[in-house]
Amino acid sequence: MDLVIRNATLPDGRQQTDIGIVDGRIAAVEPRLAAHGVREIDAAGDLVSPPFVDAHFHMDAVLSYGLPRVNRSGTLLEGIALWGELKPELTQDALVERALRYCDWAVARGLLAIRSHVDVCDDRLLAVEALLEVRRRVAPYLDLQLVAFPQDGLLRSPTAFDNLKRAIGMGVDVVGGIPHFERTMAQGAESVRLLCEFAAERGLYVDMHCDESDDPLSRHIETLAHETQRLGLQGRVAGSHLTSMHSMDNYYVSKLLPLIAESGVAAIANPLINITLQGRHDTYPKRRGMTRVPELMAAGVDVAFGHDCVLDPWYGMGSGDMLEVAHMGLHVAQMTGLEAMQACYGAITETPARILGLEGYGLAPGCHADLVILDAGSTVEAIRLRAARRLVLRRGRVVAEAPPAASRLHLEGRPAAVDFRLPQGNKAVNPGSP
Ligand code: FE2
Repeated sequence: MDLVIRNATLPDGRQQTDIGIVDGRIAAVEPRLAAHGVREIDAAGDLVSPPFVDAHFHMDAVLSYGLPRVNRSGTLLEGIALWGELKPELTQDALVERALRYCDWAVARGLLAIRSHVDVCDDRLLAVEALLEVRRRVAPYLDLQLVAFPQDGLLRSPTAFDNLKRAIGMGVDVVGGIPHFERTMAQGAESVRLLCEFAAERGLYVDMHCDESDDPLSRHIETLAHETQRLGLQGRVAGSHLTSMHSMDNYYVSKLLPLIAESGVAAIANPLINITLQGRHDTYPKRRGMTRVPELMAAGVDVAFGHDCVLDPWYGMGSGDMLEVAHMGLHVAQMTGLEAMQACYGAITETPARILGLEGYGLAPGCHADLVILDAGSTVEAIRLRAARRLVLRRGRVVAEAPPAASRLHLEGRPAAVDFRLPQGNKAVNPGSP
């Protein structure tokens, strides 16, 4: 073995497990592996996980917060207007520089795969060229998947569809859309049909911003599910945001959920952004705005959590930490039961990996040796503590490391080192325990 990681706790709760790695791939996962490694790492009972995956991001806007000004109202619509002001001032060098800097943050956080939307409504396609360059440069350490995103509306913006086709021709991976931003409901539905037909012709994946609205009558997800089924796109389509579902009538949702499940459309919620951008026209009580995550999961729909924004016209916070995303998602969705909390970890790891169609993702023998060793004893503890990423490995090679959290007390009669882990006696409720 090139490398053996000893005494790992795995996301499914298995403990004292060793992981053997050969040629950048996982060769064995078993207790007390007999083979020795050229190098050995002692996980000391810590959680060893496949890397985090962000299913929904905007890398063309990342780290642009304050350019050319900040979003005063904090609303989605002012954010879109602000982005429109910034677009003519963008340069390729600045886009590449900001994106590469964010990818550094991502790797340090154990985030090794990102699906990023890229705005195609600038006729120069500057951002597309920049992110294709970034995708090429980060490929050794991060999987960057790009979505051609017609931010100003496929039909509302006269050149959007041509630009989207050009972007796909240049190498962008996935077909995007924004039906709720078209001029009418009918045009929104028409945009979904056109985009799905285009994707089916080219054999591409689809990921649309869909119903990112508090309007309960925004029902483009229904059309997206229908077109997915009609065109045989099952398993290749995702609806991002789906926030209108939060405000929909329960009776209609009881019809909608099985339709989404049977169409094989995945859902991507963006908890940090949905909780801040939705409900802005409400007084009190204010809606939370995030889509119906536990209900979608219960219906058998793949649900992932995305980061969406970091330091951009829509959001002045964030640092590329998917554990922060899961932490917010867990709270907003009131997913505090043990299995529900564990499901929130799946929503930033294996589920988005499946939605993105990542090859060789996971902990089974044969998978890429892409791993994160966390300063936590379980997936739930990782979310609770936003645990330090002790080591991040890509293809069996360490690409980032961080010290474990280490606060020290100066209190008489109390230990110096603070231990934030679940107390040992509480093992019965620790999902990391057998
Ligand atoms: Fe988005």
